[in-house]
Amino acid sequence: MRKPIIAGNWKLNNTVKEAVELTNGLKEGLKNLNESSLPEVVIAPVFTSLYSVNELIKNDSKISLGAQNCYYKDNGAFTGEVSVPMLQELGVKYIIIGHSERRQYFSETDEMINEKAKAILAKGLIPIICCGETLEQREAGVTDSHIASQIKKALDGLSTEDIAKSVIAYEPIWAIGTGKTCDSVEANRVIKMIRETVKEVSNSQAADSIRILYGGSVKPNTIEEQMAQSDIDGALVGGASLKADSFIGIIEGTMKVRA
Ligand code: PGA
Repeated sequence: MRKPIIAGNWKLNNTVKEAVELTNGLKEGLKNLNESSLPEVVIAPVFTSLYSVNELIKNDSKISLGAQNCYYKDNGAFTGEVSVPMLQELGVKYIIIGHSERRQYFSETDEMINEKAKAILAKGLIPIICCGETLEQREAGVTDSHIASQIKKALDGLSTEDIAKSVIAYEPIWAIGTGKTCDSVEANRVIKMIRETVKEVSNSQAADSIRILYGGSVKPNTIEEQMAQSDIDGALVGGASLKADSFIGIIEGTMKVRA
């Protein structure tokens, strides 16, 4: 049985002060929820808030720390980058890689995403590997081939054990921040296809273990239907993770379906 993950991607939002307030709000909201049926809850603030947020959650087993990106070299002449060991020192356990915004605005390639996945897993951390199609790709009928190619390239050269530990997030680009969620049955179909692709490049055990999330306008009122699908193992949440009550609402909805 795969444990669900609800991950908040705060993107470029929240100063340190705001991040601390939001984290305290989440801790407060989580207090009332039964720990044994909680999903794995991950929050991914900007780099500059990681230290302060970790101070608040390091002794709290209900929330794990995530980062939104990393570089794949440990150190060296790479101005402006942050490495996996540096994030690990701050308590980071999960690192989101290959988000469509990074692919689109910062020219991240599948090859870079693969290097990052290798660097993250080599240090014992967990990559959340994002994939997803544009509206044009969906309309042209190339969704599945595009996503299968993104996944194969991201997982290239990884061991079966490392693949089994990893997390994938399927995020149709047209559903991100638009309020247009992908139909749950369709999201589940694509996620099943991703699981088949994982099986092709590893084995069925890894494909059964890997957790595959849906992302794209997830809200408290969409999560129950999404979590009721056979292959959706959680959500990567942007906008609705920026307010404690809506993020807690998504966690509660998950618990209703998967307690
Ligand atoms: P959204 O973002 O929930 O605001 O659509 C999701 C994401 O980009 O991870």
